[in-house]
Amino acid sequence: MKSFNTLDFNNMERLYRINLINSASGFKSANLIGTKSKSGHSNVAIISSVIHLGSDPALLGFVSRPVSVRRNTYDNIKETGIYTINHVHEGIIEDAHHTSAKYDALVSEFSMTNLKEEYKSECDAPFVKGAPVQIKMKFLEEVKLKLNGTIMIIGEIQKLFVEYGILKKDGLINLTEGKVVAINGLDHYTLPQSKKRLPYQRPKITNQLVKES
Ligand SMILES: Cc1cc2nc3c(=O)[nH]c(=O)nc-3n(C[C@H](O)[C@H](O)[C@H](O)COP(=O)(O)O)c2cc1C
Repeated sequence: MKSFNTLDFNNMERLYRINLINSASGFKSANLIGTKSKSGHSNVAIISSVIHLGSDPALLGFVSRPVSVRRNTYDNIKETGIYTINHVHEGIIEDAHHTSAKYDALVSEFSMTNLKEEYKSECDAPFVKGAPVQIKMKFLEEVKLKLNGTIMIIGEIQKLFVEYGILKKDGLINLTEGKVVAINGLDHYTLPQSKKRLPYQRPKITNQLVKES
């Protein structure tokens, strides 16, 4: 196999390094974060770092790049405490990707793409219309990493909307049926294929364990 060490990383061409390291962690989720500033300007941005932090309470985190330059999503979340997370499906890949362009805070990515804002009761932040999973989040905490200045934004799920067909009897949201995409690196969108579901696993009883107990 081809191998790389820290010296190689240091000498690498910048874009090569970005692509390499961004692919190395595995497939990432593709989400659009919807926000609105206090002055009423909506914003939507693609984020691939949303992670599950716990089911009870229902917590999700995402990593914001350092705020050394203006980050509209971060600013709006800090201003209002509310944001939405919307899953990217195969029909909106190009528009979702375009939201990564650096627009001024006064320019809404909704007006620069075919993505449509959707408003639901008790949520001032916009959802992305047609997303098979839409989540209303309440900001709870931010954790700044001293190492590189990135900020983990932690929030609680306040409302969860799931397209009927993809919600299974036991609570699983079948993202594959929702044609929800995943991200490989920073620019390669991929559509997962369903393999199987497996039951809860318990340790195998081996002779060694029986002897020791
Ligand atoms: C595939 C992809 C994934 C991204 N993931 C993140 C991320 O997890 N965190 C982040 O801060 N920016 C991420 N970005 C960059 C933001 O989309 C970009 O900085 C955007 O301009 C932020 O918009 P805003 O200033 O309106 O918040 C990603 C960009 C792409 C193309």
